[in-house]
Amino acid sequence: MKARKIRDNIFWMGAVDWDRRLFDSLIPLPDGTSYNAYLIQGSEKSVLIDTADPTKSDLLLDQLEHTQEIDYIIANHAEQDHSGTIPLILQKYQNAKVMATPKCKAMLIDLLLIPENRIQTVEDGEKLSLGKKSLEFIYTPWVHWPETMSTYLHEDKILFSCDFFGSHLATSDLFVTDESRVYEAAKRYYAEIMMPFRVTVRKNIEKIGQYAIDFIAPSHGPIYDKPQLIIDAYKDWTSETPKNVVVFPYISMHGSTKKMVEYLVGALSEKGITVYQFDLSVTDIGKLAITLVDAATIVIGTPTVHIGPHPAVHYAAHLANALRPKLRFASIIGSYGWSSKAIEQITGLIPNLKVEILDPVLCKGYPRETDFKALEKLADTIASRHREHQLGN
Ligand code: FEO
Repeated sequence: MKARKIRDNIFWMGAVDWDRRLFDSLIPLPDGTSYNAYLIQGSEKSVLIDTADPTKSDLLLDQLEHTQEIDYIIANHAEQDHSGTIPLILQKYQNAKVMATPKCKAMLIDLLLIPENRIQTVEDGEKLSLGKKSLEFIYTPWVHWPETMSTYLHEDKILFSCDFFGSHLATSDLFVTDESRVYEAAKRYYAEIMMPFRVTVRKNIEKIGQYAIDFIAPSHGPIYDKPQLIIDAYKDWTSETPKNVVVFPYISMHGSTKKMVEYLVGALSEKGITVYQFDLSVTDIGKLAITLVDAATIVIGTPTVHIGPHPAVHYAAHLANALRPKLRFASIIGSYGWSSKAIEQITGLIPNLKVEILDPVLCKGYPRETDFKALEKLADTIASRHREHQLGN
C-alpha cells in the first residue's frame, strides 16, 4: 500500500499485515493487524512517528523512497512491531535522531542495539517545533510497557497514541468505518495487553482529556476521526465496576463436567445473568480475554487429570490471573474419578484476583441429583451477590 494523506503534510505510512495470525507467539490475531507509521512535514523539520515491524520494513522504506530528509524518528514505544525498522531508517537518514522517553531509550539500546548517540530523550510535556507544526510529548506509561508515550500534534489536534487505543485489525480503511468491528478489535487488544494496568491507563485517559483531539492515530488499526468512540469505550473498560456477567471457561473429557457446566449456565441464565461459556479445547483465548473485561464472576469447570485440573484449565487460570480483571467472585466446578486436588490447585493459581471464592461443586463421576442441587445453590449465590453489588448488564 502507498503512503496515504491524512491532512496537509501528514501521511499514514507503514504496513497492513493481512495474514498475521499470532502475536508474541501467543496472542491470536483473527483479523490480522497493521503497523502504522506517520510522516509529518513541517516547514523546517520532518518527523516519522513510529516505524513498522521488521517483517514489513521494505514497505515502509518504499513509501519513503522520495522523502529526502527525516530529522526525527519518534519512538512512542520500544516494542519491535513499532521500533523494529528504526535501525534501517537511521541508516537511510544519517542525520536523523530518535526521540524517546529515557526508559524507551534504554530499551531501544538493549533491544535493537541502536547507538546511544542517535537517541535523544524527551521530557513529559516537552514540545518540538517543526516549523508551522509543533509536537508535544505526553508520557502515557503502561500502555502496555513502562516506557510508552503519546505524541500530540497541536495545529491539527491529532494524538498519535501507538498501542494505546489501537486495534489489531487489517483494513484498507484509513479511518474507522465499521465502528462495531473496530470496537470489538480494540476491546480485544485492551484486554490482552492493557487490562492489568487499568489504574494507570485510567490516569492516562484523564491526562489526554486535557487536549482538544480531533483524531486519534494509533499505530495499529484505523484512525479514529470521531475519537469519543474509543475514549468512552476505554473509560468503560477501565472502570472498577463489573457487569452482571459470568465467564465460564471449562474443559470436559468424558462429558461429566460438561453436563455440570450446561446445568449451571442454564440456571444462571434463568436468573437474568449474561454467561459466556468457553470450551477451552477450541476457544480463542482473545475471546475469553474480551469477556473478562466486564465480568463480575468467573466459574472454572475442570475434570481432574491425575490429581489436579486439566492442563488447559491450568493455562486459562494462569491467564486470568495475569490479566487481573475486575472480577469480584470466583468458583470452581467439575468431576473427578477417585480423588482430586483441583480446587486447591486452581485457587492457588489466581492470587492476583481479589475475589470471594464461592462454594465449589465437585462431583465423583457423572453428576447426580445432589450435584445439580449444589449447582442450583451456586447459581442462587452468584445471583444474590450480583444483586447486592447492583450490577447492571
Ligand atoms: Fe504494538 Fe506493544 O506493540
